[in-house]
Parts: sequence; structure tokens; C-alpha cells
Amino acid sequence: MKALVLSGGKGTRLRPLTFTCAKQLIPVANKPILGYVLEQVAATKIKDVGVITAPETGSNVEEYVSDGSNWGLNVCYIQQEPLGLAHAVKTAQAFLEEDSFVMCLGDNITGQGLAGFLEKFQNENLDALIILKEVKDPSSFGIAQLDDKGNIIRLVEKPKTPVGNLAIIGTYIFSKQIHRAIENIKPSWRGELEITDAIQEMINLGFRVKAEILNSWWLDTGKKDDILSANAKILDEYIQRDVKATSIDSTIDGRAKIDETAKIVNSTIRGPCIIGKNVLIKNSFIGPYTSIGDNVAICNSNIEYSVIQNNVIIEEIERLEDSLIGRNAKVTRNGFSRTIKMHIGDYSQLEV
Ligand code: DAU
Repeated sequence: MKALVLSGGKGTRLRPLTFTCAKQLIPVANKPILGYVLEQVAATKIKDVGVITAPETGSNVEEYVSDGSNWGLNVCYIQQEPLGLAHAVKTAQAFLEEDSFVMCLGDNITGQGLAGFLEKFQNENLDALIILKEVKDPSSFGIAQLDDKGNIIRLVEKPKTPVGNLAIIGTYIFSKQIHRAIENIKPSWRGELEITDAIQEMINLGFRVKAEILNSWWLDTGKKDDILSANAKILDEYIQRDVKATSIDSTIDGRAKIDETAKIVNSTIRGPCIIGKNVLIKNSFIGPYTSIGDNVAICNSNIEYSVIQNNVIIEEIERLEDSLIGRNAKVTRNGFSRTIKMHIGDYSQLEV
């Protein structure tokens, strides 16, 4: 059994951050999303992992994952033009050979490990196992229609007319038969070779395809609000209080994890939250569900439910919430004037 981790794609829904960073490397609770995916793979017996990368952002991914030894994995890289998830599998065929494999989308996080799914795939001698979860917006996902006994009737990628609300999440397990199915499919209306169509083709060819419902949470971090939800979920589930930072005239409540090199002056911090290395927080309030990266300075500001990446400066901001701030950004207030002065990148979104 091998693993194929998809860390390519275009990341258009997360521009401008994805102009300079692979979307799978955007941090939640100060760790790239891809790190959580690799941890789940590392918790199984799988050692050989192929990581799919895109030409523009592949070098960032390689820098972060390196040879995989930080996770006890042997990682190799497969560069792919983003022409669909099934196209990624096709591109990885030389790495996958005839082996079965688990395919994980590098921007999806779940609260449930892979072990139970791998066991079911092996015990029931399946050709494909897909994992499903109920969603409110079925038109954004691949959707599975099941019969009363839980057998798959059909699969539709991003249905325009409703076919149910069970979305295919970003964890799939396949036997070598997936390659035969991919040979038979054509690109969809969006020009991609869809994995959903390939799995439907496996069903048409009579292979053993089953679905399992995920018991835990799942987040596809495709857009800003999804990143903020994932950040809140991870902070809620995993952060324990750990405060060794220098704290002067400050109050630090609840589950706050603050690096020892941070300095908190005349401020209030309320967990769950995480604060990275060499951070200065002065005369400010940091509210729950906030992650602050390394080398950040926050002065005279109030921040809540936000992800602030490395090297950011925030000054004199009365209230900043539900925000995702990219690396090296500067957010300051222009005295008491009501004029807004901006220097923001292409595809930025500003709500004032
Ligand atoms: O999140 C679950 C959904 O993922 C499923 O319900 C859909 O059936 C499935 O098609 C997929 O839909 P998305 O439109 O959300 O996929 P996205 O383009 O965001 O790509 C998912 C991941 O795979 C992402 O980490 C980028 C990577 N990728 C994507 C493409 C198209 C590649 O590595 N190569 C590619 O060619």
C-alpha cells in the first residue's frame, strides 16, 4: 500500500495568498494544512508517499516536506499540470505501479485517522473505498447517491440539480483497477479528468466500490472562511495551555499556547489561541480562535477569530475579526482620518 498526496492545483479561490504560496501550505494553528495530512498518513503502516505538486508552487512544497523523514516517510515528488484529480493519478502511475493506494487531498483535514478505512478496504477486498459526509452545499462537491442498504447508486461531480447531500471527502482508497477506469473517462465541462467520473466508471465496469460515512468532522480548506473554520476546529481540539512567554502587566486566560520567545505587554489573551516565535503583543486584545505566526507585531489592536501569518505588523486596529492575513502584510490605521489607504495585491478581498 502506498499514499498519493495531492498538493498541486491552482488555488484560485484563495488568491492572492496562492500567488506566492501553495494553498496546502497555508497554516492553521501555525502548521501547514499539508502537515496534518502527512501526520495522518504517518500514523498508518504506509511508508512510500508520492506528493503531487504544481509547477508554480512545487518548490515551496518540496522545501516544507523535504524527503519526508520528519514524518518517518519516504517521499518522492510528481509534478503535474492541474488537469484534474484523476489526471494526477494518471501522472503518478509510474510511482504507484500495481499497488493499492490511499489518495489524500492536501487541503482537506478530518478528525478521523485512516486506519479504520484501510482495514475495511483490505478485509472486504475492495477496489475503491470512498468516504462521505453530509454537507449543506452539495453543488460544491462530488456527491454520492446511496440506496437503502448504503450501496452506491451513482456519483456526480458538483451537481447543478440536487442528487443528495453526501459529499465525497478528500480521502480515497484504490486498487490498481482505478487506472483502467481512468483510461475510459473524458475531461468534464471544467476541462478536468474527474476522480468522481473515474470511480463511477469503476462501478460501471463491475469493480467492488463501497462508501463509508465519516463519523468525525471534515473541512475542505478551499476558501478563506474554510481556513478560519479549520483553524478554530484545530485550536479547539488540540491546543493545551502552555505559556512560557514574557508577560508584563497582562492577563492570559484559557488554552493559550504561546512560544517562550514571545512578549506580551499590557494585553489580554484569551484562548484557544496560538502565538508563535518572536511575537510582540502590546496594548492589545487577542480573542479566541486566533493563530498568530512568527515575527508578528501587534500594537493597540483587538483581534479575534483570525489567522495571522508570519512577519505581519498590525497597529491601531480597533477590531479585526474573521480575517486571514498573509505573510509580510502590514495593517495599520491612518491616524484618526476616515480615509482608507490601500496597497493590496491582485484578487485581495477587503471588507470595510
Ligand atoms: O474536497 C473534496 C472535493 O475535492 C470532492 O468532493 C470533489 O469530488 C473533488 O473533485 C474535489 O473537488 P475540488 O474542486 O474541491 O478540488 P480542488 O480543485 O480543490 O483540488 C483538491 C486538491 O487536489 C487540492 O489540494 C489541489 C489538488 N489538485 C487539484 C487538481 C485539480 C492537484 O494536485 N492536481 C489537480 O489537477
